[in-house]
Amino acid sequence: MIIKVLGSAAGGGFPQWNCNCRNCASARAGLSGFRARTQSSLAVSADGENWALLNASPDLRQQINENLELGAKCSGGLRHSPIKSVVMTNGDVDHIAGLINLREGQPFSIYGSRQVLETIAANSVFNVVAPANAPRIELPLDKPVPLRGANIDLGLTIEAFAVPGKIALYLETEGANYGSRTGDTIGLRIAAAKTGKEFFYIPGCAEIDPPLAARIKGASLLFFDGTLFTDTEMVAQGLSQKTGLRMGHISMSGPEGSMAAIAPLNVGRRIYVHINNSNPALEDGSDAYNAVTVAGWEIGYDGMEVRL
Ligand code: MLT
Ligand code: MN
Ligand code: ZN
Repeated sequence: MIIKVLGSAAGGGFPQWNCNCRNCASARAGLSGFRARTQSSLAVSADGENWALLNASPDLRQQINENLELGAKCSGGLRHSPIKSVVMTNGDVDHIAGLINLREGQPFSIYGSRQVLETIAANSVFNVVAPANAPRIELPLDKPVPLRGANIDLGLTIEAFAVPGKIALYLETEGANYGSRTGDTIGLRIAAAKTGKEFFYIPGCAEIDPPLAARIKGASLLFFDGTLFTDTEMVAQGLSQKTGLRMGHISMSGPEGSMAAIAPLNVGRRIYVHINNSNPALEDGSDAYNAVTVAGWEIGYDGMEVRL
């Protein structure tokens, strides 16, 4: 199984188009230690030929062009794509907008939770990716299912599970939890059918609650929500009034953070993805970067490849 990080940044990417925070300004200026990043997506393949995208980011066209294994093959005929499936983990813009890049009648399958499939069904712009070519398939929760392309078995088993989170920003309503329901945000456990090797992908998560801790305990590989280093960093930098928890994201640091919560769970390789441009760990060698790496975590980057 090959896993590629197509985009390691959170919504907005790094640098973000309208942002002059220290990180964004430094990345835009090309300063060393600040590596630009596209928005949140992974690609996975059991055979190196046929791929599933885990989330479809608004930067997908760039990501396909920067990862040659995802481009049309010369030997594939006039129209071809190695991308056989897209799996979405929530309805956030950074995870669904890239579907629109996949118009042109290519057959592939689209997986998501019931809520996310309802969201794309309710937005007529997504009809440009016609359901006749790109069937929508609801992911059951807590039940491993074979991951299929439109006409092909990808040799991967996928299990979706609900994680604590929040409904997409543009769907928020009044009320204490903004209209969030179980399954608005899911995590994925993906296994190669042949070898049984597996990994977890959880790019959005508000809390490591006991069921989630039990699920990921002993995992050999985890890609996890690295949005913020501290819960209040966007407020402190004057970028937003919102804390991480208000946005549905647990922070890396602190007694309530993901590093502390996951430390006792005997998880092997731990890689942060969906990293917001405000996060000081994006600067190589910063105190935050050092705290993360000393704790045994890796900061994901675009083009990162893991083979299992
Ligand atoms: C998030 O991860 O919280 C969202 O992608 C934020 C957004 O929609 O910009
Ligand atoms: Mn996001
Ligand atoms: Zn910024």
